[in-house]
Amino acid sequence: MNQVNIDLYSDTHTKPSAAMRQAMAEAEVGDEQQFEDPTVNKLCDMVATLLGKERAVFLPSGTMCNQISFRVHCRPGDEIILDFSAHPINAESGGPPALAMAQTRAIHTERGIFTADQVQEAIRPRRRHSPLSRVLSVENTTNFGGGAVWPVEQVAAVTAVAHENGMASHMDGARLMNAVVESGTPAGDYARHFDSIWLDLSKGLGCPIGGVLAGSDDFIEQAWRFKQQMGGAMRQAGIVAAAGVYALEHNVERLREDHENARAFARAIAQIPGIALSHDRCDTNIVFFEVAETGLTAAEVAERLAGKGVRIGAMGPSQMRAVTHLDVDGDDLAAAAQALREVLA
Ligand SMILES: Cc1ncc(COP(=O)(O)O)c(C=O)c1O
Repeated sequence: MNQVNIDLYSDTHTKPSAAMRQAMAEAEVGDEQQFEDPTVNKLCDMVATLLGKERAVFLPSGTMCNQISFRVHCRPGDEIILDFSAHPINAESGGPPALAMAQTRAIHTERGIFTADQVQEAIRPRRRHSPLSRVLSVENTTNFGGGAVWPVEQVAAVTAVAHENGMASHMDGARLMNAVVESGTPAGDYARHFDSIWLDLSKGLGCPIGGVLAGSDDFIEQAWRFKQQMGGAMRQAGIVAAAGVYALEHNVERLREDHENARAFARAIAQIPGIALSHDRCDTNIVFFEVAETGLTAAEVAERLAGKGVRIGAMGPSQMRAVTHLDVDGDDLAAAAQALREVLA
């Protein structure tokens, strides 16, 4: 395998910094299952406060945050409404039907941001033959929608429709802090519209592991049951929670740099013959682009780039995705754009 010098495959590919590792090494720890790990408790308190919720729980992954939430909200045969591009539909191994025994109903949009009217249309009539529309799930930012940020007014509108129809509301906040930094909307202003909401530590925040799920006392009590059942209850987890505490204290504001870098990269590659940006705007740290006009497949372009030490993911036959994060700077992005120009020359 070629050596990867510039990795734009995903913001999950960050490595913990020296300072983060130091915080991890010095973490006070205890038995997380017994609520005796002071660092995990601190992280959960920080996130509950940030999101204005009664309680939070530390989980090994964002996928588990989504899946446990759906299990708490749904009964077998219920339906979860989300965007067609949403992570639980596309990249969680069929979790909703397998674990919550709930089916999904997709709303089709350009970038993962739907309207109150679309939610209303997707909600089933209450009759014995139909599944019960049970949860509305909103992804902020949208991953496969190219990092788009939800305006908080639109969040208020879509969740109001859900609540009026007796549904729960859930936010997949894998990149919530990217949305917060970009929009200037405080995390709590997003969170107050949701019955369950989580943020991922292992993406732009630069931690090796973990997500934190927040909600009411009662919701988290039920989430703990499933965490235990699914094998997500941990022991001296403070060693990784310390990375989360560090990240929330040091790595949030700097997400702006990732967004600036992504926009500069998008501008640079838009000049390359054969490349077409998939979206008209780059809101945060994700850039999707099409290579069909180059005469090469996305996989072929990815392979050529790898030969130059640049990793960019092929997301479809002709679509690629580059994601900026704290382990790549402006020079890396300029070099990656130049590498793309060279492999297509
Ligand atoms: C929008 C979204 N939701 C959920 C997840 C799952 O997070 P994790 O990789 O921590 O399981 C991801 C991961 O890429 C994501 O992008």
